[in-house]
Amino acid sequence: MAQADTLAIILAAGMGTRMKSESPKVMHRLAGRSMLGHVLAAVDEAGIEQCMAVIGPDMAGVEAELDNWPRPAAHVVQAERLGTAHAVLQARERLMGPAPDRVLVLYGDTPLLTPHTLRRMAEGLTHADCVVLGFEAEDPEGYGRLLLSEDGALLAIREHADATDEEKSVTLCNSGVMAFRGAHILDLLEAVGNENAKGEYYLTDAIEIAHARGLRTIVETAPEDEVLGINSRMQLSEAEYVLQNRLRLKAMEAGATLIDPDSVFFCHDTVLGRDVTVEPNVVFGPGVRIGDGVQIKAFSHLEGADVEDGAVLGPFARLRPGAHIGAGAKVGNFVEIKKSEIESGAKVNHLTYIGDAVVGAGANIGAGTITCNYDGFNKYQTRIGAGAFIGSNSALVAPVSIGDGAYVGSGSVITRDVEADALAVGRGRQMSKAGWAAAFRARSGRKQAG
Ligand code: UD1
Ligand code: CA
Repeated sequence: MAQADTLAIILAAGMGTRMKSESPKVMHRLAGRSMLGHVLAAVDEAGIEQCMAVIGPDMAGVEAELDNWPRPAAHVVQAERLGTAHAVLQARERLMGPAPDRVLVLYGDTPLLTPHTLRRMAEGLTHADCVVLGFEAEDPEGYGRLLLSEDGALLAIREHADATDEEKSVTLCNSGVMAFRGAHILDLLEAVGNENAKGEYYLTDAIEIAHARGLRTIVETAPEDEVLGINSRMQLSEAEYVLQNRLRLKAMEAGATLIDPDSVFFCHDTVLGRDVTVEPNVVFGPGVRIGDGVQIKAFSHLEGADVEDGAVLGPFARLRPGAHIGAGAKVGNFVEIKKSEIESGAKVNHLTYIGDAVVGAGANIGAGTITCNYDGFNKYQTRIGAGAFIGSNSALVAPVSIGDGAYVGSGSVITRDVEADALAVGRGRQMSKAGWAAAFRARSGRKQAG
């Protein structure tokens, strides 16, 4: 269903003091993306075209996140936190005629909601005026309780602090997500008062008011782990756990083998091809794309990297932003690649740093090779031609170019360009003195005895 005339309002004005953090709560990250980013993504994926956030004063980082989102989201500032109904009312201008057909209220600190659930909420409005997303809480302490009539209609939401003991025994709780027909929302919000335990304007009170006015109020439900609200670092880690499990499942469903899924950590945007094998203890940072049939061996760390089909990485490989690994190439243990092209079939197997470089197709980079790309001020390029052979423990001092098919002798420090098919050796010449060691031992032994 197209959600063209649906507006999502994301409440994000709270600082989240329990996070004990300098940054606003919704900027804390899960799988490499802010909580707010996760909510914005769910809104986009649900096909909801209008989005606005209610934020607190002095939240420059949050504003930037909204402005830099692919489809920039508007925001309004709630100067004083007087409650969730008051927060939604900050969007009053957008809610005045002509109001959008449907308005969804979401929380910036409830980042695991799926687009599917958002669509269900919007669709619920085809036969109701207000839809509340509820869940069965294992521990309902602190949540608003959903009070239903005998026939399952939603009568009211009672906040924990205001609930009687009988109401507290209800385990069906308010997730915070609500959908309203646009024609009613403003009237309902304006009728909400603040005579309650916290002295706040509760959005939840809009339901009892709607019901009293003869509007149809219903409940949709979701599993508890989808509506997890984050108030503390503990809950942040619980949400990360849920999200990682989703991403692991998605990777396996798309045709990747994860030998020990629990030890593989994905970023929200990781893309894996088919028949990829990921060994235990691999971490994906942002911006990684892996082609088909790639093997990623244990303890590798990848970010901002593009890996073509059939490449083999690790164990203990580190790919940093701008690493492009060609088809069938090999990047072995304790190898770091940054902003470099490793062309198809090239091998960089052991103990090497390749930065700001091109390694031509089929080249072989010996153990311990270093591209010296940085002089403390600027970065310089290294070019290694196709089929070149770099002997072990060589330092290639950039800017420098090694021609196609050239050889570099082990232990060289290469500071000048090497022609194609040439041999370059840049190291102290070896000298040998026959019998020197024996003579030295004899001499030294005599001194000690005397
Ligand atoms: C709210 C619900 C409760 C529900 C619970 C689910 C109300 C009155 N209560 O309670 O029924 O079970 O969430 O987690 O709605 N916010 C603002 N401005 C404000 C107040 C809040 O932007 O003036 C934002 C917060 O940043 C947060 C969200 O709204 O993202 C929820 O506010 P919070 O104070 O955490 O509500 P709860 O007491 O948890
Ligand atoms: Ca809360």
